[in-house]
Amino acid sequence: MDFDTQNLLSLGIAAVALALIVVVGMVRRELAPAARLHGRRRWLLAAALGAGVLTFSAKLLVVAGLSGIAAQPGDLRANAAVAADDKPRATASDTHVWTALPYSRAGVPTSPGAATTYVWQALPTQAPAPASNPMTAAKVRLGERLFNDPSLSHDRSVSCATCHDLFKQGGADGLVTARGIHGQTGTRNTPTVWNAAFQNLLFWDGRANSLEQQAVGPLLNPIEMGMPSAAAVVERVEQRTSYRNAFDEAYGAGSEITLERIAAAIASYERSLITPDTPYDRFVAGDTRALSEQQRRGMALFATLGCVSCHSGPNFSAASLFDTQAPRRLFPASPTPWEQRYALLEQSGADAPGVRMAWRVPSLRNVALTGPWLHNGAVSELADVVRIMAASQLGWSGHYLLWSARSRTVQEIDRPLPSEQQVQDIVAFLHALSSDRLVALTNGGGPADTRDTASVSSVHDVADGRRTAMGRAIP
Ligand code: HEC
Ligand code: HEC
Repeated sequence: MDFDTQNLLSLGIAAVALALIVVVGMVRRELAPAARLHGRRRWLLAAALGAGVLTFSAKLLVVAGLSGIAAQPGDLRANAAVAADDKPRATASDTHVWTALPYSRAGVPTSPGAATTYVWQALPTQAPAPASNPMTAAKVRLGERLFNDPSLSHDRSVSCATCHDLFKQGGADGLVTARGIHGQTGTRNTPTVWNAAFQNLLFWDGRANSLEQQAVGPLLNPIEMGMPSAAAVVERVEQRTSYRNAFDEAYGAGSEITLERIAAAIASYERSLITPDTPYDRFVAGDTRALSEQQRRGMALFATLGCVSCHSGPNFSAASLFDTQAPRRLFPASPTPWEQRYALLEQSGADAPGVRMAWRVPSLRNVALTGPWLHNGAVSELADVVRIMAASQLGWSGHYLLWSARSRTVQEIDRPLPSEQQVQDIVAFLHALSSDRLVALTNGGGPADTRDTASVSSVHDVADGRRTAMGRAIP
């Protein structure tokens, strides 16, 4: 029994008791003396009138019950559940998942019931290989050995796996910027090699087009592995007799050991490093319980705020093999206070003519495992990366004026900074892009952070050159 019904009942009992006392008083003081009734007769009259009061109360109670005066909130909940059940239902060919939203606005579109047309895709379970370098088991095995072999570096101290720790650091190194031979540090953060096989452009600035081309770079890079020449690399491999057998198996008996074949074997191994085993992929494949409610809200925001305009397709990157429309994007695209705090303007990115700061859109798979983030590794909280992206890449930075130099017009824009709750929802979704296997081997990227949202509200002066360099327009 709930509070309202209890109140009603005690009120009723008090009223009935009062009525009975009044009836007895009336009989004793007024009615009985007037009618000259004594003894038992007095009590009979009192009982008759009292019974009248009781039956009247009983009638009232029945009427109240029937007309639902005592309806309980529990009943309303039950009604709502029935109503929800009337909405489109799961059918044999489709599944619907309902997610309550604790905020009224989740980017665009804003009208209730509007759906984004973005179609989510799962990662293929195999990476494509070029015709010039078909994948074979022998090549993958050889590539794995080479990838893990520190004797391919000048002082025999660093292998590819030193910086790309596949199992403990999600394929990166956990450092701000990479550390190579003799403890030398570079200027860029180490990206993961997991799912690099799906990328069309490699490196932060997108300067390599294939894994074969990329693999040669670090071997000869003076601050990474520091080998002086291609011949020196080949010599190191030839020194180990066991490599001879591995090359025979991979490329045919007596095949020459060349830098190209070394790189091709490493590339084949990298094509085996893919992670379709994520909660996101299971969700897209139909397992509706794979994502938590918060992750589903984050997924919706990821589309409605516009993240999908760059982090699109199965590999969450427009610079992937699935989407060759917009290989590089300007970053930061519009001014925010963060670029000073995190020194985001110091490196120039790709040297596209007339454009500074053009970067390849990175994949976001396993991103929760590969902090710190961004090209210079300056940001150590994933939530901050989300805020920076929303404000800098999509203009979700408050109520502000946008001056266009070309049209010489000022536009008033109302794109609120994502709320703390929304930021955390997106972070939760990004965690759903982590491989189940890799999460089991690492700490899962740690807890989502809960820092205060910096408020950005300023006049944005966006030069038109920068806007056009964005490629696809900001939604
Ligand atoms: C000293 C640390 C270090 C070593 C050793 C190293 N890498 Fe890297 N790797 C990096 C850094 C840093 C980048 C990004 C560089 C840039 O963008 O300019 C990178 C980028 C890559 C990428 C591109 C990933 C992407 O998404 O763009 C691949 C693939 C890769 N490395 C594979 C390898 C292979 C194969 C080897 C061994 C032959 C290797 N790396 C050795 C630090 C290292
Ligand atoms: C206009 C294109 C664009 C949009 C829109 C965009 N991003 Fe990015 N994103 C980039 C680029 C380019 C980088 C690489 C920046 C760099 O080199 O430092 C990046 C980097 C990131 C990273 C860090 C990756 C890493 O490994 O360090 C995360 C996380 C991220 N974006 C999430 C988001 C989220 C969430 C949204 C939506 C709120 C979003 N992005 C919207 C282009 C975009």
